[in-house]
Amino acid sequence: MGSAGEPGFQVKQVHPTFACEIQGLDLSQGITDDQFNQVRDLVHEYGVVVIRKANFPDDLAHIEFSKRFGDIEKSKYRSAHMRPLPYPEIFDISNLDENGEVVTHSNERRTTAIRGNALWHADGSFNPRRTYISCLRAVELPPKSTGGHTEYADARQAYDDLPEETKAKIKDLVAIHSFYHNRKTANPDSPLFKDIEVLDMPVSRHKLVTNHEPSGRHMLYVTSYAHSIEGMPLEEGQKLLKELADHCKQEKYVFQHHWESPGDVAVWDNTAVLHRATTGAYEGKYRRDMRRTCINDSGPEAYGLNDPALAANQANSS
Ligand SMILES: [Fe+2]
Repeated sequence: MGSAGEPGFQVKQVHPTFACEIQGLDLSQGITDDQFNQVRDLVHEYGVVVIRKANFPDDLAHIEFSKRFGDIEKSKYRSAHMRPLPYPEIFDISNLDENGEVVTHSNERRTTAIRGNALWHADGSFNPRRTYISCLRAVELPPKSTGGHTEYADARQAYDDLPEETKAKIKDLVAIHSFYHNRKTANPDSPLFKDIEVLDMPVSRHKLVTNHEPSGRHMLYVTSYAHSIEGMPLEEGQKLLKELADHCKQEKYVFQHHWESPGDVAVWDNTAVLHRATTGAYEGKYRRDMRRTCINDSGPEAYGLNDPALAANQANSS
């Protein structure tokens, strides 16, 4: 076991500006305080940390590790279309249905969610209290080369690289976020979403540029849940959101994580990076069992401009 300053595992940066990979950290027997502090510092610095062969033995070990980051989120309900996993802290990100079978395209609820998650986002930005950490674990993976990679965008570097004029223009702007905006964008013809008026549904308000306190940097908090800009004509706000989102998702800011083995874990900071799921040939064919925990943000920007009382009944991070 390493002492402070000597983590006892190897760290390798995997993108020129962010994201790192840890090798040699076996979490099957838990983690020491020193090791955890090192991991948390890496998450803050790099935004994304992939722990190869972390090997949580079960859901409880995954939950216990996650809780070290703070206030863990619990799902309030299980969709009848998903597996009845026993712990509310574990979110089912698999492609399996309530019977443990691979989801097919006839399952509208699941396929619309999969398409929504393929758009760039930060988990939980549509909530009054946003999400801080997500911890995603591979339990069962499809054959290599059939896809299912996870992509991350360095939204802090993207902010740093903006022209000063743009930074001045957007520094105090507030975006209106909605879960339904993402789902409608991803599924314009779906009967589940096409007739929904986004602004008739619950929304959240978060600043477009947020301060990432642990690193002292700024993040461009431009997620696919962001529907419009407060106080700006709809079209003008949406045009600005698109320009900023297009800026963030340039190839130079993107790291693609290829899942290698069951037991691998990705930990990312939703208050520093954006992410998305990618599709692939595995869909409809091969099992992909992924499980995720989320930690609520407790920092100064956690509630954005929302009433904290509303967070008590907020939706799952999705
Ligand atoms: Fe996500």
